[in-house]
Amino acid sequence: MREQAGKTHNSALDKLGRRDFLSLAAASGLVVLAGCATRQKDIETVNNADSSPLWQQDKKTIVLSSNENPFGASPAAMEAGMKALRDNASLYARENKDRFLNDLADFYGLDPGQILLGCGAIELLKIATDVFCSSKSPPVISDPVYEAISYYAPLRRIWPKRVPVKTRDAGHDLGTMLEAAKSYKGMLYVCNPCNPTGTLIGEKDLSQLIKEVPRETVVVVDEAYAEYVGSGFFSCMDLVRAGTPNLLVIRTFSKIYGLAGLRVGYCAGAKNIIQAMSGHALWNNINQAGLAAAHAALYEQSWVDKMCRENKRTRRNFCAGLEDLGIEYIPSRTSFVLLSTGRSWEETHNYLLLKGGVVAGRKIPSLPRYIRVSLGSDKDMEHVLSLLKNLQSSPPTQKKTTL
Ligand SMILES: Cc1ncc(COP(=O)(O)O)c(C=O)c1O
Repeated sequence: MREQAGKTHNSALDKLGRRDFLSLAAASGLVVLAGCATRQKDIETVNNADSSPLWQQDKKTIVLSSNENPFGASPAAMEAGMKALRDNASLYARENKDRFLNDLADFYGLDPGQILLGCGAIELLKIATDVFCSSKSPPVISDPVYEAISYYAPLRRIWPKRVPVKTRDAGHDLGTMLEAAKSYKGMLYVCNPCNPTGTLIGEKDLSQLIKEVPRETVVVVDEAYAEYVGSGFFSCMDLVRAGTPNLLVIRTFSKIYGLAGLRVGYCAGAKNIIQAMSGHALWNNINQAGLAAAHAALYEQSWVDKMCRENKRTRRNFCAGLEDLGIEYIPSRTSFVLLSTGRSWEETHNYLLLKGGVVAGRKIPSLPRYIRVSLGSDKDMEHVLSLLKNLQSSPPTQKKTTL
């Protein structure tokens, strides 16, 4: 049976051709995942680096790789989710979904026909890629940026046009992205604030970009981490409300609201944009518990403010610790920090994992010296700092790499 499965797989691969497979594999993260595997060689490398013992296997690992909220969801959101499980687990969401959609539209001063709910923001990014891009109109994305589009587009043999971040401040190079959008016209993806760099784009630059982009190009602004910026954040929701025709704003309940496991995201745009996307969403893509929890969370501004304050405090302390260690990092407006120990991603990643049970972010091929660390509890971050300190004082096992 196993052999047969292997055969089928091989013949599909044969059809794809080696170069295509490698591009697909790279795009879909297979190569990256292979790099994550804890092989004997990695263990030896870390053992040679210093003599402190490896993390004991019976201890829990600390996952700082997916920017999950270390505080979880608010008590009110949890209670609403649990009540929905008790009352509605056997029922499709139907009117609860409509009620949530109407309230969400009300919350933003939009028409319900301007909003689409998704099984997390990622479903909406996939749908936008499917609907607005083709091989002739590939998406224009920053590099590095959140990987969803560069994962899903190649499944349809669409190769995103990547524009490297600016070397000065690691921000999106909006000028070059705009020029690329003029050539390709499909979709321009902006992540604000950006995962994985943590950088923020201000009102002037964003408004200018959206004004100058060709009308046929849909600008997708991913605001997954918007709430962490706090007051003063310029949200493109304002431009949707003002009637911008070719704009889609994506948000999620996975980050500051602490509901990543319940999978609720949404996007807002002009009615024709939402209409074009809505047929592609899975029927009943939102579950009852997620809907109820997100609905309650939407009105809990005090929880959002509290999370924002906690995040800023942890980030400030962590970055101060990095500075004390002389570790370079990109100033972040989010719930993670992109830092560089000066060693390869592999060396830092494996050291954190094998010596301290810390799972840090995936390799970023275009920034091979950098590693993204999500902000966890204060105790987690102190643990990371002490590991980084030990790493700094151990001899490099590989040649230093440059950006
Ligand atoms: C920038 C960005 N957009 C979208 C997502 C997907 O979020 P969701 O959990 O809502 O699918 C993530 C998740 O990490 C993200 O970082």
